[in-house]
Amino acid sequence: MNIIDGKLIAEQIKTEIATEVRKMIDSDIRPPHLAAILVGEDPASQTYVASKERSCKEVGFTSSIYRYPATISEKDLLLAVDFLNKDEEIDGFIVQMPLPNHISVEKVIESIDPKKDVDGFHPINAGRMLANLPSYLPATPYGIMQMLERCNIETEGKHCVVLGRSNIVGTPISILMSRNNKHANSTVTLCHSKTKDLEKITLQADILIAAIGKPLFVTSNMVKEGAVIIDVGIHRVISSETKSGFRLIGDVDFLNVSKKCSYISPVPGGVGLMTIVALLQNTLKAARKEIYQ
Ligand code: GUN
Repeated sequence: MNIIDGKLIAEQIKTEIATEVRKMIDSDIRPPHLAAILVGEDPASQTYVASKERSCKEVGFTSSIYRYPATISEKDLLLAVDFLNKDEEIDGFIVQMPLPNHISVEKVIESIDPKKDVDGFHPINAGRMLANLPSYLPATPYGIMQMLERCNIETEGKHCVVLGRSNIVGTPISILMSRNNKHANSTVTLCHSKTKDLEKITLQADILIAAIGKPLFVTSNMVKEGAVIIDVGIHRVISSETKSGFRLIGDVDFLNVSKKCSYISPVPGGVGLMTIVALLQNTLKAARKEIYQ
């Protein structure tokens, strides 16, 4: 069994990005600037935004965080988005999810200028991805594709089973894995809450991507010997073994599944780190106007 070292791959990509940023600065071009809008005090969101900020610093990007209370009105949040849309010093930005219930996520996402939508959540970017046109790819699927490619994991002709059909992971990764290119070309099955005989399907998976949002959902009886396992889940559980009193676990029962598979991405140290790096890559593309003029 091989561990897919998300930390190592993310570090390699960050070094490559930092080299590009250095070249920009040497040519008197300002470094890429990623901004984040953070609404409320959700601890997980605060952690995500802080680690995005840290990663920006590591590669030489400028970063800024716009914090608003959970009581902000939808109208004011839309104004904040518009402010960032118009700021020429900001190449790309994200609105950290989840948002408070009184705010329409769809409205907020649709108000983001697609040219600055480095999360790839805007319907224009989602549609362009579906049509195989240049677009910002959603960060987690983009990160997973690069993980497989950089580990030289064969995908062509393989049966890839995706668990979960979310807009940000399950649905886009199923499209990317079925694409006609050397690092995809898989036959994809997308499973969800209404799928029947789930185990019968997962047992056929050469590549199993778990993005179902349920801790330790994938158990070893669901996995074929020698399969490649990508764990997208991140769940904070209480632990007596750590100083913080918490530890992170994924959607996969790592302890038992790892005994059966050929490759597995761990949690932490797997997909999560790739997601952040993919966001940086999208921001570099935004700064260079690679997707849109
Ligand atoms: N919340 C959890 N994942 C994400 C993400 O990829 N982007 C944003 N904006 N919010 C999130």
